[in-house]
Formats: sequence, structure tokens, C-alpha cells
Amino acid sequence: MDARVLRDGDRLRQWPRALAGSAPTADGVARRRILYVTSEITDFVKTGGLGDVSAALPRSLSAQFDVRVLVPGYRQVTAATGPIDVVARLPAAHGLPACELGLVRSADGLPIYVILCPDLYDREGSPYGDEHGLDWSDNDVRFARLGLAAAAIAQGLPDLDWAADLLHLNDWPTALGPAYLAWDGAPVPSVLTIHNLAYQGLFDRTRLPQLGVPDAAFGIDGVEFYGKMSFLKAGIIYASHVTTVSDTYAREITTPEFGCGLDGLLRRCADEGRLTGILNGIDETWDPRTDASLGSAFAADDLKGKKANADELRRDFGLAVSRGPLFAVVSRLVHQKGVDLTIESTQSIVRQGGQVVVTGRGDAAFERELEGLASRYPGQVGVRIGFEEATARRMFAGSDFLLMPSRFEPCGLSQMYAQRMGSLPVARETGGLADTIKDGVTGFLFREPSLAAMLGAVYRAVDAYKSRRTLNGMRRAAMQTCYAWDKSADGYGSVYRSALTASATAP
Ligand code: ADP
Ligand code: GLC
Repeated sequence: MDARVLRDGDRLRQWPRALAGSAPTADGVARRRILYVTSEITDFVKTGGLGDVSAALPRSLSAQFDVRVLVPGYRQVTAATGPIDVVARLPAAHGLPACELGLVRSADGLPIYVILCPDLYDREGSPYGDEHGLDWSDNDVRFARLGLAAAAIAQGLPDLDWAADLLHLNDWPTALGPAYLAWDGAPVPSVLTIHNLAYQGLFDRTRLPQLGVPDAAFGIDGVEFYGKMSFLKAGIIYASHVTTVSDTYAREITTPEFGCGLDGLLRRCADEGRLTGILNGIDETWDPRTDASLGSAFAADDLKGKKANADELRRDFGLAVSRGPLFAVVSRLVHQKGVDLTIESTQSIVRQGGQVVVTGRGDAAFERELEGLASRYPGQVGVRIGFEEATARRMFAGSDFLLMPSRFEPCGLSQMYAQRMGSLPVARETGGLADTIKDGVTGFLFREPSLAAMLGAVYRAVDAYKSRRTLNGMRRAAMQTCYAWDKSADGYGSVYRSALTASATAP
């Protein structure tokens, strides 16, 4: 089977190692075939952490499994690949259009299936909505098409010489995959990873026939959620196993405070041993010794270059020369991220002699308020509304602290990227932030989502900043913390193996 090899698709990630691919393992045993289904992958398009996880985890898992990725053929994908070799055709089903399946291979050898359906995916905008952030009105059809294509690949397509032994789904846009398998009576095991329980993919029940959801499935033990149809609930119900991206979040989502209405169901999953927390990793490109986006390289045992990055960052954001601490915010600008707390705390930070640089995109009201802060504190607060990875990398490397007062945080990658670049996170003790930050050692944690609590942690950070010895000691501890993907891949490997074994021994 032919596949176009991507030479310039992997722009910011220069993946260092060639992948094992489908070659048998060292002891000659065929690798089990995993289809990793995702709505974003940083090779082509990223709106948040899911893109990074989807680029790194399948690569890491390739050491143990024959992993292929499935993504929709968004404009960003086809623009990067050029014409794609078609390897199979999928017929129309229910109200979902027919489409073609293409296959491309990244420069380091990761096979990526692309669903070619220009009517659904060839649009200007993000994977989920238009340039103004408005969700596409046919997202149910767009992502049901993704789930159904995944289920079809698992069941075997006539033209295709590869079928998945297990589906790995990610978040609501993929979560109908296990449901389609169940409704077809196909005994293929599946794993659903919840990256964020707050996004559930809720649609009107009148859409059921178009999506091919049987009437009988629209009930409390199926896809129904308060009178609507829920993609995410479908995944939780029908997947063989559910994972989420940190231990703490795995516990939190079984409580009413964090459960977004699904805590009862998730408690049941946990009781059945069907819910596991597996912490994300970070990939090797996050390294201040080698990162080509940075003006100056530095390392845990040689921090000199960090100061040059700070100077450059101040210049870039129009800040005054200063000897005070520099706080950064690199975030989607949404309620989850506690942007309101960041905005409220800025005045106190500036009064303490600190400066703040922000990059982000999201709710228009937050964007306006942040721009207002930049005008109110010229030279002390710099704001760039947008999404650019090289800017984010320079901000982690140039700042002293990263503000991350998230109301909830399933895992969070930004705090790990910041730590790797010697910027200490000031974060709320929740989800993955609680699992990756050692208070007073590799960052600063606070518990209550309140301004007072956040400022308590900010003041502790400012104090630490006053002692170069303390600061550099903490920087070194943060930079040396290991977040290798191999460890997470082992966690997924065990989950896959038990799901495969359970399905092989099922009556
Ligand atoms: P989430 O997925 O909830 O947004 P994560 O911390 O897991 O949170 O991942 C966010 C990712 O997106 C990180 O890689 C972060 O650097 C990046 N990011 C967020 N906002 C921006 C931005 N405005 N510009 C560049 N990168 C951003
Ligand atoms: C989601 C979560 C974030 C997590 C990311 C990758 O976007 O909000 O906490 O790090 O997914 O798993």
C-alpha cells in the first residue's frame, strides 16, 4: 500500500527517532494494531494539549504496538500534505456522507489515515469552528463521520490491508466510535481517553436518525443526557476502558464538583475497575539546550542563557527593562483556566514590582479585558492575542513564573513545558497540576480558586525570586523533573493489553 511521505509536515517537531512501525517485536511476535483516533494532531493542527498528546503518544507507543492515527482531512492537513493517496472508500451511512480514506506517513514513519470529505472538513477555521470561534453547526455529522470511519477500520474494509485490533478514542469528537462498534455487534475492544470532561458534544435528539443512533440507545444507559444526545457519554458507556490524563483528575471526575453531571456514571466505571488515570508526558523537543525557537540556549547546570531570553521577551512584548520577576500566561482564554483570577491579580503583581506577559486566544470578553490591562500598565503588562507555538516557547524560556490558576485541569501541559524551561508554575492544586508540581520545590500551589489564595502563592513566588539561590535551586529541580512519554506509554500499554485479553476471552 502506498503512502505519501511527509517531508515538511513536522515543522516544529523534529522527531528524533525513526519508528518501529509494523515490524515484529524482538521476539518475532506480530505487534497488535492500534488505531489512535483524534480530532487534532500537532503535525498539522493544534488548539490545545490534545494536539501535542496525539503527536507524541502514538509515536511513543510505536515501540510496543503497530500504531496508526486517524484524523479528519481538515484544510490544514491537506495543505501540508498535498494530494493524498486514497487507500479505501467508505460508503454513505444513515445521514453521513460517503468519503475516502487517505494514508500519509510522517518523515519519522508514523502512518496517519486521513478522512477525505471536503464538504465536512475543507474549511477555513479551527477543527471545531470558524475564525470567530463559533462552532460549526454540523459538528455532530463531522465527528460522527470520524467515529464511524474508526469503527469501519476496526471491522476491516475491503480495500484495506490493515484493520485495528483496538481503537483508542480521544474526547467527545471521537467518542461515537465504540458506540458504532457496539451497535454493529463488533467485538473490537476500545479505550476512550477523557482529556476534558467539560466538553461533551451535546446535540438535539432530532439528529439521532441522521447519525445512525438506534432509538433504543436513547436512554439513561445509553447516549441520553438530560434530554440531549451526548457523544462523550456514549464513549464512556460503550468503551471497554476509560482513561483520563492524571490520577487526581481521575478521582475528581467521580465527584459532583468536577463530574459535569457524569460523576455517577464515572463512579460506576471506577467501581468496575474501568477508569484509570495516566499522566501525560512531554516530548523531547521541549529542551532549552536545543530549542531552535529560543534566542539563547541554556541548561539546568548553566542558566546564563535564561536571562538573555528574558531580556528578549521583554523587548518583544514592549516591556520596560526591569530587575523584577516576569510572570507569563500561555493559555486558552476560557473560564476553565481562571483567566478572571489572572486579570484580578495583575494589579498586585505590578505593585510588587513584577511584570506580566500574556499570550492567548478565546472568549472575546477576556481578550478585551487583557488588552485593557496592557494599556493600563504600559511597560509592565504585554498582551498578544493569538496562537503561535514559537512565541509560547520563548515565553516559557524567558519568564520566571507561569500563572495557571485553573478551576480544573485534567492534566495541563503548559506547566510541564514551563518547568522544563526553568519557569516555575504558580498554579491551583487541582488535577494534573497537583500531580506535577511540588509546592515550594518545583512551583507554587494554592487550593481555593480565589484571588486571596492565588495572591498568597504569588507572594511566595516573589519572595523566592528575591533569593537567587532559592530561585535557581527551584529552577534546577523543575528542569530536571522527568516527564518522559515512555512512562505514560507503559500505562496505556497495560490498559490495551487487558482490554485485548478481556475481549479475546469474552464468551
Ligand atoms: P489545554 O489543552 O486545556 O489548552 P494544556 O496545558 O494541556 O491545556 O495545553 C495547552 C497547549 O497549548 C500547550 O502546548 C500551550 O503551550 C499551548 N497554548 C495555549 N495557548 C497558546 C497560545 N495562545 N499560543 C501558543 N500556544 C498556546
Ligand atoms: C485538555 C485538558 C488539559 C490536558 C490536555 C491534554 O485540553 O484541558 O488539561 O493537558 O487536554 O490531555
